[in-house]
Amino acid sequence: MEYAVKSGIPEKQRSACVVVGVFESRRLSTAASRLDEASGGFLTHLLRRGDMDGRAGQTLMLTNVPEMVCDRILLVGCGRERDFGDRAYHQAVTAAANALQESGAVEAISYLSDLPVKGRDNAWRVRAAVLTTGNALYRFDRLKTDSEKPRRPLRKLTLSVPGRRELPAGERAVVEGRAIANGMALAKDLGNLPGNICTPTYLAEQAEALAKEFPALKVEVLGPKDMEELGMGALLAVARGSRQEPRLITMRYDGGGRGDKPHALVGKGVTFDSGGISIKPAAAMDEMKFDMCGAASVFGTLRAALELELPLNLVGVVAATENLPDGNATKPGDVVTTMSGQTVEILNTDAEGRLALCDALTYTERFGPATVLDMATLTGACIVALGHEAHAVLGNQQGLVNDVLAAGRTAGDRGWELPLWDEYQDGLKSNFADMANVGGRDAGTITAACFLSRYAKKMRWAHLDIAGTAWNSGEKKGATGRPVPLLTQYLLDRC
Ligand code: BES
Ligand code: MN
Ligand code: ZN
Repeated sequence: MEYAVKSGIPEKQRSACVVVGVFESRRLSTAASRLDEASGGFLTHLLRRGDMDGRAGQTLMLTNVPEMVCDRILLVGCGRERDFGDRAYHQAVTAAANALQESGAVEAISYLSDLPVKGRDNAWRVRAAVLTTGNALYRFDRLKTDSEKPRRPLRKLTLSVPGRRELPAGERAVVEGRAIANGMALAKDLGNLPGNICTPTYLAEQAEALAKEFPALKVEVLGPKDMEELGMGALLAVARGSRQEPRLITMRYDGGGRGDKPHALVGKGVTFDSGGISIKPAAAMDEMKFDMCGAASVFGTLRAALELELPLNLVGVVAATENLPDGNATKPGDVVTTMSGQTVEILNTDAEGRLALCDALTYTERFGPATVLDMATLTGACIVALGHEAHAVLGNQQGLVNDVLAAGRTAGDRGWELPLWDEYQDGLKSNFADMANVGGRDAGTITAACFLSRYAKKMRWAHLDIAGTAWNSGEKKGATGRPVPLLTQYLLDRC
């Protein structure tokens, strides 16, 4: 897909399709009014007749509109003008993308980016339009023998900006939107791949492949022997029951100054989580192939950063392993020594994410990071608390947590803070080791973060629990590409 920005009046566009908004009820946007006037009131007539009333998500494709130099006009319902915010804009752009993809128009110019979205400027609207369109047109069909490709797919989308003065910021917005969309597509691809293809070894190969595409990326991959030497007893304990070897993948990008401390992104890469000996029930267990979506977000965000050539030093660390039961698997009650030297009683082998991550966090200390963010599909409790809208955000430094939350608001990929108070640490007491790997039933997302915090004491650290946001279940089952937008925005904000 190609994206561009342009300033110009809608009735003069020799395009395969001009896209304009209609508000409820039957109120034409500025661009739509101009087309209406130029066509002798054609649109007003249609609306009066009741063909469309402007409800959010509605679309109406028109051909042969009188006096027009374009081939088609796409009317897009935007809901009430008073309520036109991020959500309605997202809906309108998505509806337009889907209608265009079906229409046979291979190119279009959209005036939705000129609509007044509450609290957002031109550049934001252009970036969001590119990002949302990229997301809407994403398909994962590489494992189908007969992929249902649209017969004439959309190839180029031009976004309108109100005047020539807005062109430079608009062009930058296109570049950012495209980079984030590409990062999300990579994260989705990795997430959607099944566990028999996307193994720890496969993830390591994908890191190498990314470095091939972007030579500024340096990759180092550790296997079980290296982990043994480093004393990563927790990560190794997760991998014990699997025939697939674990991998610790480090990706470095030095786009910043020589002495600048890197920002570190750490991802949970459990390529399949059966629960281990504390095995999960069968229902929806297939979705545990998505248990590496934290890792996928590290890949996706690094890809976006590389495409944007951000002037930052970055390090991505992915702890990749399977969690399976076999005769060699870790048993409830086993005690292991982590890389940090702290010992852990593994009371539940299904709380494996924190075990893989704790050693990855200790390993990250060696890069002397400015900040560390870890992303993990860590707890079912997170879904109970926040559902599928917000990532849970917890950290050991309020300023960092605030930066993460702010990035999420800007990017339309929001998190919500949960408390990481000392009082919650008590749940992790063990009679036999320094700590247990699970607390009680209550506040599961917080006690999981408490566990991680014990391995991040020396760093400015925040944790994103993405259990509810990294993939959709049901009919739309598939990875979402979140939180790549939040993370990329976080990095953009540091430039
Ligand atoms: N990967 C799961 C968390 C999860 C479950 C995410 C369902 C999304 C949907 C994690 O490894 C896990 O199993 N967590 C346990 C922790 C418990 C044993 C303390 C959980 O949430 O049940
Ligand atoms: Mn688990
Ligand atoms: Zn898991």
